[in-house]
Amino acid sequence: MPLILAIESSCDDTSAAVVEDGRVRSNVTATQAIHVEYGGVVPEHASRAHQRNILPTVSVALRRAERTASELDAVAFTRGPGLIGSLMVGVSFAKALALALDIPLIEVDHMQAHVLAHFAEAPKPDFPFLCLTVSGGHTQLVVVHSALEQEIIGRTIDDAAGEAFDKSGKLIGLPYPAGPELDRLARAGKPTIDFAQPDPGGLDFSFSGLKTSILYTLQKRVEAEPDYVKNNLNDICASVQEAIVATLIRKLVAAAEQTGLHRVALAGGVSANSELRGRLAQEGRKRDWETFVPKIEYCTDNAAMIGVTAAFKYAQGLFTSQAVAPAARF
Ligand code: KG4
Ligand code: ZN
Repeated sequence: MPLILAIESSCDDTSAAVVEDGRVRSNVTATQAIHVEYGGVVPEHASRAHQRNILPTVSVALRRAERTASELDAVAFTRGPGLIGSLMVGVSFAKALALALDIPLIEVDHMQAHVLAHFAEAPKPDFPFLCLTVSGGHTQLVVVHSALEQEIIGRTIDDAAGEAFDKSGKLIGLPYPAGPELDRLARAGKPTIDFAQPDPGGLDFSFSGLKTSILYTLQKRVEAEPDYVKNNLNDICASVQEAIVATLIRKLVAAAEQTGLHRVALAGGVSANSELRGRLAQEGRKRDWETFVPKIEYCTDNAAMIGVTAAFKYAQGLFTSQAVAPAARF
């Protein structure tokens, strides 16, 4: 019955969760508003904000779980991938706490944890399943053989899907992070513009050409009609969203066909996208898939997914030495 405190600090959210016997008792996240002013995450600001937020976030997580630090059996943390200065805050905090309490440390891979967010609450997929992990930093197609045996069969060769949403949104004047706002505006529009959908082949993704395609297409149209973007904002958003979502779904279908898997899941911040969710459900009905999308609070960065992953590791005695250091890349 391990009681685990989990800490996530890989990017711009400071999150702490208490997971008891694999079940989430609390999940508390402090987001950092400062990055909006800069139109993107500023690493230096992110690490400072983590430093300020981490103790209050952990305290609230323990309080909401009605537990005290002295009851903990292990401390889990995100080792990477992520921003090194941000990771450093969570790793150092976890190490110090585990040392003071004389309990084991458990390192967690942020990307593995996004996939295992499906085990934070029912319905939980049976193994094996196929997972499309789409976040601000990553785009991966993963065959999940078991909790800790995850095989990456496709990935982006340049921008991540979330980055594609954010950078495209920036081009049309939306505030950071543009993904959610673009999703909202697209609902009142139609995908009337064919933006490029570059394809590096196989199960890999490429999104960097989309920005160029948007830039050139809009430049041309603005020359003819100065208010083109303002007057067609909803249709432009729907077209950008279509280019990204159609690519994601095309590769997901190819991966399902190639692996023969019929349990198909989404993970990561971009799985909050309403069009992507809708299209997954549609393909699922057509192809007789069992589909899984976590609750939004478990899609975006959160410590509950770190705690759930740590519970699988605890069961196998996979602990980490105090000599551990964060890893920006794996
Ligand atoms: O997983 P996440 O919270 O953080 C990372 O690990 O990167 O993902 C954040 C990303 C951002 O790029 C954000 O714009 C995107 O997820 N996102 C969305 C939506 N909600 C969040 N993108 C499209 N539509 C949404 N509704
Ligand atoms: Zn993430």
